[in-house]
Amino acid sequence: MVRAFLGLGSNVGDRAGYLREAVRGLDTPDLRVTGRSGVYETVPWGVTGQAMYLNQVLAVETTLSPKALLGRCRAVEAALGRVRRERWDPRTVDVDILLYGDSTIREPDLTVPHADLARRAFVLVPLAEVAPGLRLPDGTAVDSLLAASPDRGSVWRWDDADAGTIGHEVRWYDTLPSTNELARREAEAGAAEGTVIVAEQQTAGRGRLGRVWASPPGGLWLSIILRPNLAAAQTPLVGLAASIATAAAIEETTALHPRLKWPNDVLVGGRKVAGLLLETRPPAWLVAGIGVNVNVAPEALPSRPRYPATSLAAALGRSADRGRLLRALLRRLNRDYDEIRGRGADGILAQWRARSETLGRAVQVSTASETIEGLAYDVDETGALLVRTHGGADRRIVAGDVTGEVEAGVP
Ligand code: BTN
Repeated sequence: MVRAFLGLGSNVGDRAGYLREAVRGLDTPDLRVTGRSGVYETVPWGVTGQAMYLNQVLAVETTLSPKALLGRCRAVEAALGRVRRERWDPRTVDVDILLYGDSTIREPDLTVPHADLARRAFVLVPLAEVAPGLRLPDGTAVDSLLAASPDRGSVWRWDDADAGTIGHEVRWYDTLPSTNELARREAEAGAAEGTVIVAEQQTAGRGRLGRVWASPPGGLWLSIILRPNLAAAQTPLVGLAASIATAAAIEETTALHPRLKWPNDVLVGGRKVAGLLLETRPPAWLVAGIGVNVNVAPEALPSRPRYPATSLAAALGRSADRGRLLRALLRRLNRDYDEIRGRGADGILAQWRARSETLGRAVQVSTASETIEGLAYDVDETGALLVRTHGGADRRIVAGDVTGEVEAGVP
């Protein structure tokens, strides 16, 4: 019996299902699966614009020779539909031999330890989990390789609660002009609901009201393609849900307690950390573009007199995990989006009111045609802001920018 380790990866279709099927196919009397790591989601390495991978590492005990084991791995891949073409092709499932006892093998079709093993966090993280304290044949500790791995931040834990419609496919790009721009084109071209587009940086990031949105590396810049099939007047509710999901995800993954400024700004300590741009062609599609200043230096963000910008890293005094934040956001949005479509607006409105920094305050709201001053006292069932003016008139504001506030409760 030889102890070996196998690496699994999938970035097409039901990724978790393919991993489960691969484990089932591998586990045979001459190849016993004795341990398995958790499932990790990883940014595709060496390509831009591909769907994210799920990766897992198996510990096995086998009587097969290295070549026979390789043949078994290929057979399981083929049974699950993988056709090996280009090196960086998307793949239903990929099964690699990472380690085979203490052997070192250098042959044209088989390199053991696997060539990616020492460098890539998507292998090292699950390997360190399934075999704590493991050393490679040359004596190097896996833990020390992991500590030195530059891409540790692009690997995070995934679980079945992450399997909803929104985020079933997340495509990760190095640089885009604007994720919203690409998402709009993809939505027009028929992309599935729930497809998410992420960019490391944007060169022409768009903000609300025609503003520029600074999008340097380190932030989380994403757009979600939705097909909510709601009346046009109700689409702002999806914006409220997306900003609630952003605030809740920040709260879940950091020690911060974000608040919301109407309609969709996310504030930490009175400073803006995230914004949302909804673009829609009802009833066909809606794109929710979300920008979160995660690990961005405040100097890289534009200065604004009211609600100056900040980042999570600046507020925390350390960097934050973008992958965990992304998954927490998508999980929450899946839940609330289903609720809006199934049960209506009440739950979302209650959550928004509870986090609101705007309600109960004297505000100044600029719309396309005028500036309205008064007490912001509620939002209606479509997400419009309700303001009682100083003259006592009630105004309903569908689109605008809250540009000023004075002390809480002063009308
Ligand atoms: C705002 O003005 O507050 C909205 C900012 C929205 C920025 C995000 S970043 C990802 C997506 N792509 C864009 O071009 N804009 C949105």
